[in-house]
Amino acid sequence: MTFPAQRPRRLRKTELLRDLVRETRLSAKSFIYPLFVCPGSSLRQEVGSMPGVFQQSADCVVEDCREVESLGIPGVILFGLPESKDPRGASSLAQDGVVQCAIEAIRKAKLNLLVITDVCLCEYTDHGHCGVIENGEVANDPTLEILAEQALSHARAGADIVAPSDMMDGRVRAIRKKLDSSGFSDVPILSYAAKYCSGFYGPFREAADSAPQFGDRRSYQMDPANAREALKEVALDVEEGADMVMVKPALPYLDIVRQVKDEFRIPVAAYNVSGEYSMVKAAARNGWLDEKRVVTEILTGIQRAGADFILTYHAKDAARWLR
Ligand code: PBG
Repeated sequence: MTFPAQRPRRLRKTELLRDLVRETRLSAKSFIYPLFVCPGSSLRQEVGSMPGVFQQSADCVVEDCREVESLGIPGVILFGLPESKDPRGASSLAQDGVVQCAIEAIRKAKLNLLVITDVCLCEYTDHGHCGVIENGEVANDPTLEILAEQALSHARAGADIVAPSDMMDGRVRAIRKKLDSSGFSDVPILSYAAKYCSGFYGPFREAADSAPQFGDRRSYQMDPANAREALKEVALDVEEGADMVMVKPALPYLDIVRQVKDEFRIPVAAYNVSGEYSMVKAAARNGWLDEKRVVTEILTGIQRAGADFILTYHAKDAARWLR
């Protein structure tokens, strides 16, 4: 045989050929677009550290959802900026709360869109932690009932999927039990199963006004150094009744996405988080990176790693580019 018999470059000659053998096909159908809902009407305030991302009142959120639908993106995930905060996050349970009202408004608009809700306390507590505080610590078990009630109120308002992001132990079971006993046994749970304690959430905490007022989230979110622990977290959530699991953030944890995908027969989501978005935006603004190219590359990489769908602030732009 004359050297070289194999010339991989043969299949890279034209776009038709490259497209024919492409292993990963990015599609708007696997994006979920995050939205931040605030009280009031006609409000649309850009988040300083996240160009192109807004805090919006429910009426503007509905308009955004229309655009999301028209771009072929199947769903949104809602985060709430409540009118008031207290130590127990009571405003998160109100049937007329920000998120609950936004869900109802989206439902009323009859959009063909999945409405996912983030279930957590950090946006609603005055201390900014994801659970209630007892003896200066985030208390696990007393938080579960509040999370379950919050998930139920989202389901009552019309949420299609609830997504607990608090990282308390046992919350999936608590939420599943509550939903099942209240007539919502068909509402799936997307659990933020492997959620790492990450510096990449920085811009989100400005967007959601949810920065912890003391300490950090290390006692409940995962240590970035651990991979086997992520598989344990996922296994527990599956056992407790999670229908889908999420790995978050995405880029520093693509190995986790792949391992979860290989070990579990369950849909895997990856959250391409705020800091990952803001880095690209900042570099693109400076002319240091080609935004369209790197976003496409990033999302392709996340999908190639094994994500069945991706929560990303780039969703609308990427959907336009993919048309
Ligand atoms: C709430 C929550 C966070 C994110 C999603 N849900 C922040 C946090 O844990 O502090 C982060 C999303 C992002 O950075 O884009 N617990």
